[in-house]
Amino acid sequence: MNKAESERLGSLFEQIGYQPSASTEEADLIVLNSCVIRQSAENKVVSKIGALKSLKKNNPCLKIALTGCLVDANIDKLQKRFPIVDYFFAAGEMPPWIDKCLTANIIPLKPTISTFINIIQGCNNFCSYCIVPYRRGREKSRSMDEIVCEARTLVERGAREIVLVGQNVDSYGHDLPDKSDLASLLTEINKIEGLKRLRFLTNHPKDMSDRLIDAIASLDKVCEEINLPVQAGDDQILKAMRRGYTAAHYRELVKRIRAKVPDIAITTDIIVGFPGETEEQFKASVDLLKELRFDNTHIAAYSPRTGTIASREYEDDVPTEVKKERVAIVEKLQGEIAAEINATLLGSSVEVLIEGKKQGKWQGRSRRGKLVFFNDKNDLLGQVVRIKIEKTSPWSLQGILSTDNGC
Ligand code: 5AD
Ligand code: SF4
Repeated sequence: MNKAESERLGSLFEQIGYQPSASTEEADLIVLNSCVIRQSAENKVVSKIGALKSLKKNNPCLKIALTGCLVDANIDKLQKRFPIVDYFFAAGEMPPWIDKCLTANIIPLKPTISTFINIIQGCNNFCSYCIVPYRRGREKSRSMDEIVCEARTLVERGAREIVLVGQNVDSYGHDLPDKSDLASLLTEINKIEGLKRLRFLTNHPKDMSDRLIDAIASLDKVCEEINLPVQAGDDQILKAMRRGYTAAHYRELVKRIRAKVPDIAITTDIIVGFPGETEEQFKASVDLLKELRFDNTHIAAYSPRTGTIASREYEDDVPTEVKKERVAIVEKLQGEIAAEINATLLGSSVEVLIEGKKQGKWQGRSRRGKLVFFNDKNDLLGQVVRIKIEKTSPWSLQGILSTDNGC
């Protein structure tokens, strides 16, 4: 979500005459887009702000803006805490000094090959550990017409893949008068000529519908990849997290998805060291990961967030050392699983949308979201090609342009 919003902000500034600067030293404006999902993320932005102090001394014209989830309703307090910051604006909003007419419906003039569209803001779920609903407010869907029109414009301007984003995309449309849903939105965007691929994140296991699974199975541009955070494998912990499902429900859902969309890549999120998590409860998470074999797992150690239900009701009683050990166990396990999954692709030919270059190599993704690198002299940006995989690791694939390229 933050990435999507940063991209939009960058494009907005370019449209009104700013240019990206090569370094913070040369910048006249620095916008920090903050994340406070865990204490470590918050610490990062706070130390970044501190590091900008000397820049401001050297360049009195420099303006600093802070946005993202660190910005809550109490701007006065923030202003006292961060006196060097000139402007504050909340996550998903636009800078206050920019004319509102300009910011209405801003669509990047030069979108990236794979570009984001935010379809729903906020979250109504109130998982007990999570600060997002407090900082981003309640769910608010954008109208389907507006999103489809934006998608069409982005494709006309060069985007080839669209990633629909929201805290819980499965809730999309329930607050709209016509009760549109994500499946119908995907069906409409899938019709756009010139668009090659369509993705979406993040799903919620308690809300994911069969209609959506059918849409993934039947719509040709919708990629076979899904992010479905499980958070924990133990029912008592899931209940304390207020996730609204059991581990059995989650297992059954994954089975249903895999039955309808064979070979789909599924990624998940796991929190270790939630208050009261015993060795046995942690083992339930590990067992679930071993059984379901995800393509990737985002692992986080529980971090109490002021204002959340968990921080009020439960003591953060799993020692830091134990949390670290659990993170390491899950990381190692997931690395092994991803290495095995990716190794099965050795020698095969995968369809790759080329998004750019990194260290002289072309870089793109397979439909299942795997990062692929290869060498070629020609300008292939934005094209879909087939790559024969010659080397694999848990994180990426390497190969050569396949001779059977018909696309
Ligand atoms: N502590 C640790 N991890 C958290 N996440 C959200 N809130 C917390 C927290 N307080 C994780 C969840 C979520 C991901 C975006 O961040 O796993 O899916
Ligand atoms: Fe946070 Fe839960 Fe909403 Fe995700 S679904 S943003 S974890 S409250």
